[in-house]
Amino acid sequence: MRTQVAIIGAGPAGLLLSHLLHLQGIESVVLETRSRDEIESTIRAGVLEQGTMDILNETGVGARMRAEGALHHGFELAFDGRRHRIDLTELTGKAITVYAQHEVIKDLVAARLEAGARMLFGVRDVALHGVDTDRPHVTFTRDGAEERIDADFIAGCDGFHGVTRPALPQEGRNDYQRVYPFGWFGILVEAPPSAPELIYARHERGFALVSTRSPTVQRMYFQCDPKDNVDNWSDDRIWAELHARLENRDGWQVTEGKIFQKNIVAMRSFVSTPMQSGRLFLAGDAAHIVPPTGAKGMNLAVSDVRLLAAGLDAFYRRGSAELLDRYTDDALKRIWRAEYFSWWMTSMLHTFADASPFQREVQRAELENVVSSRALSTALAENYVGAF
Ligand code: FAD
Ligand code: DHB
Repeated sequence: MRTQVAIIGAGPAGLLLSHLLHLQGIESVVLETRSRDEIESTIRAGVLEQGTMDILNETGVGARMRAEGALHHGFELAFDGRRHRIDLTELTGKAITVYAQHEVIKDLVAARLEAGARMLFGVRDVALHGVDTDRPHVTFTRDGAEERIDADFIAGCDGFHGVTRPALPQEGRNDYQRVYPFGWFGILVEAPPSAPELIYARHERGFALVSTRSPTVQRMYFQCDPKDNVDNWSDDRIWAELHARLENRDGWQVTEGKIFQKNIVAMRSFVSTPMQSGRLFLAGDAAHIVPPTGAKGMNLAVSDVRLLAAGLDAFYRRGSAELLDRYTDDALKRIWRAEYFSWWMTSMLHTFADASPFQREVQRAELENVVSSRALSTALAENYVGAF
């Protein structure tokens, strides 16, 4: 099989890249190890920045997001028994949409299939060859038979545990990493929303986040031991923990409901550079990870592929490799700002077991500063909506 761009991975990065390239008249094939059902049902992120909403709308895949997603103009920071609103729209002129990542995936898969895209699900043994030549190729097995795709370029969109990052030359690589000593316990609940906007709460017992998915399904998270097991958490224990962490002087309470999904996510910050070598380019989680506080993961994947699609467009349309050559440098500017923001939000809102009483007081003072200074609230809001 021959194509212009072989895309490894059908997450938000791979699918959106394939969609953008199609709109630019560039052919691609997407290879994915999981089934279509699996990628369309895995629960992950939920917050789309303004720039992500804009690109989905501009490229014709935003209709369901506009109809079913919830546009939010602010969120709340809760600490010391009080809630403080950050008015995103007043501070930045922008907003966010709460719309689940797997719904974005469904919309992109539907658009690609309607356009006659080649997407191969359930492939195995994906291996890259000749990435430092002008004729790279990918081998894989499908239904037990070995197959091969010859391409001009390979896009590594296969997430943190994929095969494309290890295929980059090891010499000259720099990996930056921080692993956090906690994770997030996530639940999906059948209940009406507890509040009109998201609530990020700091409490001595640990961080908690109240988010939403629809008028009838809610998403909530609380800081936990990353090695804990969901089986240790009965529904009653989960509600008791959430009530304790979200207790509030105004009497507001989280609304309970039937918990129908529980999972634990480990947390790390990670950046691997350079994001390219020869004809191989990485995008999204394949190249970098952020802790989920601040909801940047999926949005960063989108901003990477936007740059990569522009670089490939310049290459095919004008024969210019300039943007492709600069891809890592251009992408890293945004990535490091998001790494900083996610680290900052994580540090400000979570409980660190080894924090001294001094550090705990300074952490509270920082939150106090953020909610009482318009300048700091604006900086937080700009980062949250991705206003740069
Ligand atoms: P992915 O979505 O990981 O997609 C990569 C795809 O490549 C996958 O479908 C995978 O099956 C496929 N693949 C892997 N290896 C191969 C291979 N060898 N060959 C072919 N295909 C391959 N972010 C938030 O902001 N908030 C959250 O609450 C949140 N929760 C998360 C929970 C989990 C469990 C994880 C893993 C991530 C979470 N994230 C969250 C981060 C966010 O979901 C990611 O940043 C986003 O999915 C990145 O998109 P991507 O396309 O780069 O990678
Ligand atoms: C969600 C996830 C996040 O990481 C976040 O900061 C806000 C909301 C969510 O899944 O709804």
